[in-house]
Amino acid sequence: MAVRIRPLSKKELASGIVSCCQTLGESNIAIRKNGDANNFLKSQMAMLNEYAFDAVFDEDSTQEEVYESTAKKFIPNVINGKNVTVFAYGATGAGKTHTMLGNSRADSSAAGSGLGIIPSAVKDMFSQIARKYANADENSNIQDKWTVTLSYIEVYNEQVYDLLGSTAGKVLPVREDQTRDIVVVAGMTEQVVTSYDEVMVFMAQGNRNRKTEATMANAVSSRSHAVLQLVVRHSMLRLDTNKETVIESKLSLIDLAGSERASATNNRGVRLQEGANINKSLLALANCINALAENAGSDKKSNVKFRDSKLTHLLKSSLEGNCNLIMIANINPSDTTYEDSNNTLKYANRAKNIKVNPVVQEVVKESTWVERELRLRQENAALRAKVCELTKLLTEAQTFRDNVLYKCANEATLEGKQRFSITSASVYSECNKLFFVLQISRTWLMSTTNLSN
Ligand SMILES: Nc1ncnc2c1ncn2[C@@H]1O[C@H](COP(=O)(O)OP(=O)(O)OP(=O)(O)O)[C@@H](O)[C@H]1O
Ligand SMILES: [Mg+2]
Repeated sequence: MAVRIRPLSKKELASGIVSCCQTLGESNIAIRKNGDANNFLKSQMAMLNEYAFDAVFDEDSTQEEVYESTAKKFIPNVINGKNVTVFAYGATGAGKTHTMLGNSRADSSAAGSGLGIIPSAVKDMFSQIARKYANADENSNIQDKWTVTLSYIEVYNEQVYDLLGSTAGKVLPVREDQTRDIVVVAGMTEQVVTSYDEVMVFMAQGNRNRKTEATMANAVSSRSHAVLQLVVRHSMLRLDTNKETVIESKLSLIDLAGSERASATNNRGVRLQEGANINKSLLALANCINALAENAGSDKKSNVKFRDSKLTHLLKSSLEGNCNLIMIANINPSDTTYEDSNNTLKYANRAKNIKVNPVVQEVVKESTWVERELRLRQENAALRAKVCELTKLLTEAQTFRDNVLYKCANEATLEGKQRFSITSASVYSECNKLFFVLQISRTWLMSTTNLSN
């Protein structure tokens, strides 16, 4: 559980707003309420509250510092079969999207600020998988394989929408899979991804489809909760016995929409309706956090109402305990938003008590020869398709080389008294990219008679 204070914007500073929050050391934060000298009610008096968390980050903290002290150390757990969920929580405009997406968000409000937690975690995850492959023992009897599948959805106005593929923008039903005791979103787009770059392409596509609007509280307010999920499937095939053990884990990276007070945001119409739904799901989340925190400290277990909102229903398995849960509470330090920031800190303080116990779930199965053959056939077909695609690319490139590049070489350009000509041109393809290698020679022409030749 960590807390991050965002810096006051130039506009806020210019309007005379001052900060009411301060970090104390590496894990404490103090928040001050300005009192009203003419009132005697306790709720109206000046107050100073102090809270302790695993980490606190002040206005000057960088994206790297936040990532390295929070999510980073849990990424190896995902590779080793444990579920990990990271989410940012807080009021509207407090810096959740900045913390989670950073400069990969759809708007340009975080340009130059470095990678947010989501891209940093994805980058780390793929480099750790690559390291596992690189360190694999060639003579081992066990063949390891990691497959990563991505999905990106949003919860908007209490409905779940796909952010990717042909189903982008469609409402998707949420169901409970009783046999595996998990909540699933039926029909969402799932993409096998093999690199950080590929994930970033899908994320950019999803972010463009995500609902964001300008509100009075935030010029780039997220109007939906976005859930990016990476399912890591680690298959270990024993070559002698043909037994396959599969471990599946999930990395869930969530950028929540922020709670908002209608009076403060001045929202009307559609924005007001969105705000009401955002508050409803965040209230349900706060209630679940309360119930889970209470349950953690007592023998009497009360019912946790995950079904009260789509958001909590989706987060059920993450919150219930079989998961490393990393929460980053974001706060706006402005003294005008004291109530929101203090509420965020109170919930974060309660959420600290949630107990988690992630376990690795192994499935051992003896793959039959038929299954093995089927898998090899599928791999073979995929590789053949890739070879076909690359051969086509290469043929096109060779035609381009012969028709365009050599033609250019024959019609060598004249620049002053120098002549440039292409002496050789070759083409090769690697990782679905085409590379042209041109060797260019430069000849100095000594007399104008030569020039005409
Ligand atoms: N740590 C930070 N450093 C610099 N700018 C920040 C920081 N945190 C937030 N901001 C800026 O503050 C504004 C609001 O931040 P952001 O959009 O991340 O808030 P949010 O919590 O996601 O709000 P909402 O719930 O409305 O989506 C943005 O312009 C963002 O770039
Ligand atoms: Mg946001």
